Amino acid sequence: MNRYGLIGFPLTHSFSKRYFTDKFDREGITDSQYDLFEMPAITALPGLLALPDLRGINVTIPHKQAVLPYLDRLDASAEKIGAVNVIKLEADGSRTGYNSDYYGFRQSLVDWLTLLGRSSDGLKALVLGTGGASKAVTVALSDLKISYRYVSRTKTTDSLTYDDIPSVINDYSLIINGSPVGTYPNIDEAPVLPYQLLTDRHLLYDLVYNPIETKFMKLGLDQGASVHNGLRMLELQAEKAWEIWQR
Ligand SMILES: NC(=O)c1ccc[n+]([C@@H]2O[C@H](COP(=O)([O-])OP(=O)(O)OC[C@H]3O[C@@H](n4cnc5c(N)ncnc54)[C@H](OP(=O)(O)O)[C@@H]3O)[C@@H](O)[C@H]2O)c1
Repeated sequence: MNRYGLIGFPLTHSFSKRYFTDKFDREGITDSQYDLFEMPAITALPGLLALPDLRGINVTIPHKQAVLPYLDRLDASAEKIGAVNVIKLEADGSRTGYNSDYYGFRQSLVDWLTLLGRSSDGLKALVLGTGGASKAVTVALSDLKISYRYVSRTKTTDSLTYDDIPSVINDYSLIINGSPVGTYPNIDEAPVLPYQLLTDRHLLYDLVYNPIETKFMKLGLDQGASVHNGLRMLELQAEKAWEIWQR
């Protein structure tokens, strides 16, 4: 049996467990199983990695950075992001770290722009929030040659604040919510933006996937903007993990 699983803490609602279990059923993959390994402390990782038949693991909060010292190498995007959410156990027993959020975001954005018939040339992005998800987003944007600014609640040399947005929103037509604002159960919340200044040229991408239509998206739609939720990114990052493990 090939074993896969997810480490993190706490692991209450796991998209990955459901996703891989459904995938194995649907595709008749009978030689694989996907388990949850709730891990309060990363020091338990070596014990898990010693499990026979373990082929790969997903990593979630709070261990995406803490796993780095346990790995032998990182792929290029994980190295730039400084965080890993997929570990592949190689045939020789060594461990490679990847960041499939990067791939999920990048692919979903490219697909969306293609669908809309929009070019990335000259597109400029605002990325709301400065956490791990936003870092994966900005590395993908850089690789796609889309210039961006972070927007943070805290003023730094690297970021704008929410108060700066009204004066730049006209130039930044792609706005990506990389903060958890608007996530269930806080569905009546939305990032603090001057929504009345949005136009039908604006593209609002929410990394949040629960609810399917967030308030951020609704307020954008009201102004004629195009909107996208985080579900496709979530599916694509899971598919990418699977592809990495099967290489
Ligand atoms: N769709 C997907 O596949 C996918 C993948 C990964 C993550 N996500 C989602 O992306 C979101 C961010 O993930 P993360 O791990 O980066 O989360 P995080 O570290 O908890 O937060 C990201 C950033 O959001 C900002 N923020 C946090 N609380 C806020 C608040 N109340 N108001 C305004 N800004 C706030 C903070 O930046 P500042 O302090 O600089 O303002 C924080 O660093 C989550 O909702 C997560 O579920 C989705």
